[in-house]
Amino acid sequence: MFESIQAAPPDAILGLNEVFRNDPRPGKINLTVGVYKDESGLTPILDCVKEAERRLVAKETSKGYLPIDGDPDYCRLTAELNFGAGHEVLESGRAATAQAPGGTGALRVAGDFLTSTGAARTIWCSVPTWPNHPKVFEASGLQVKNYAYFDADRHGVNLDGMLAAIREMPAGDVICLHACCHNPTGADPSPADWKLIADAVYDRGLMPLLDFAYLGFGTGIDEDAVALREFARPGAELIVASSCSKNFGLYRERVGSLTVVTKDVDTAQAVASQVRTAVRVNYSNPPSHGGAIVRTVLGDAELRSQWERELAAMRDRINGIRKVFTQKMSERLPDANFSFIEKQIGMFSFSGLTPEQVDRLKVEHAVYAVRSGRINVAGIMPSNVDALCDAIAAVSS
Ligand SMILES: Cc1ncc(COP(=O)(O)O)c(C=O)c1O
Repeated sequence: MFESIQAAPPDAILGLNEVFRNDPRPGKINLTVGVYKDESGLTPILDCVKEAERRLVAKETSKGYLPIDGDPDYCRLTAELNFGAGHEVLESGRAATAQAPGGTGALRVAGDFLTSTGAARTIWCSVPTWPNHPKVFEASGLQVKNYAYFDADRHGVNLDGMLAAIREMPAGDVICLHACCHNPTGADPSPADWKLIADAVYDRGLMPLLDFAYLGFGTGIDEDAVALREFARPGAELIVASSCSKNFGLYRERVGSLTVVTKDVDTAQAVASQVRTAVRVNYSNPPSHGGAIVRTVLGDAELRSQWERELAAMRDRINGIRKVFTQKMSERLPDANFSFIEKQIGMFSFSGLTPEQVDRLKVEHAVYAVRSGRINVAGIMPSNVDALCDAIAAVSS
């Protein structure tokens, strides 16, 4: 049965990471995989998470299944985090939230929900986008199409191109938007741009699906939620897939949530039942531990402020190293302009490096980046920033 099966193509980014691990050169630099690293190169467990785990271990009395749509307190607290406590869509009961195994799980359930109910057949993704987006949506049976997003010359959002593309999309299609910290470019629309985008999306009769994987990694918790809150207009419908992988450092615990905002309470209840069906045939019910940690942290005033401080420290480190990198590049290449790295936000940037330069960085300098030129800024540390800037300067001339 299995003889004729061909090996699947390796995941480009994870494959590169494997090559990095086997590279014997001292001082090698890894800017590939999307995990946060502190100044010493570690992906830490947050102190608030450790404390929440201690409390959970002491109190936990059962390993029975969670409900199909997860822990209701976790769902409430994450929805409040995303929309802001007391937001009309939550108070009115017209939103249905389900706990999901990571942002990826939330996206897959969203896709399955859309296809199994016949609500939509086509989803539009930005060019470029997180490479898993099209694969996850196609696995759900959605047709994936692309819209213009990035202006490579200006290293920013191509707002006009994006709006023009939106105005051509057929009503009833879904548009996937990165709510903040666009992966892979690091280029986000401004709050004023988001208003124009939301106007265009709703004028056209499209369903926005906001992928919210980096809340708190850009500018701040509420600042990063500006797009989501712009779309959460009175009476408007939207879908939000959020993740606690990055902002709680809970990557391997698989914590996320899916919120579908509908017109009214009755519709929300019908949608919730369809989401539960999509979950039931997929993984039956979500894993508990990560969600319990997030619930414990968000539900306790002291742990919550500790989390906000720890999140701010991760954000500040990324934004700080962006400044240092930009400064050091301008010292090495005064004629080149790397200031966009400082302006972009989140964990990633499109560095503007060509595939050939990326190849040379790897071969000649043991610096690993994705061939598109995407770099994980959190891979830059005080200990390697000089060597990295020297290497980039060397392949740029
Ligand atoms: C844009 C985007 N969406 C979703 C995810 C999924 O995150 P998770 O690890 O929670 O599944 C990621 C993770 O890298 C991402 O970059």
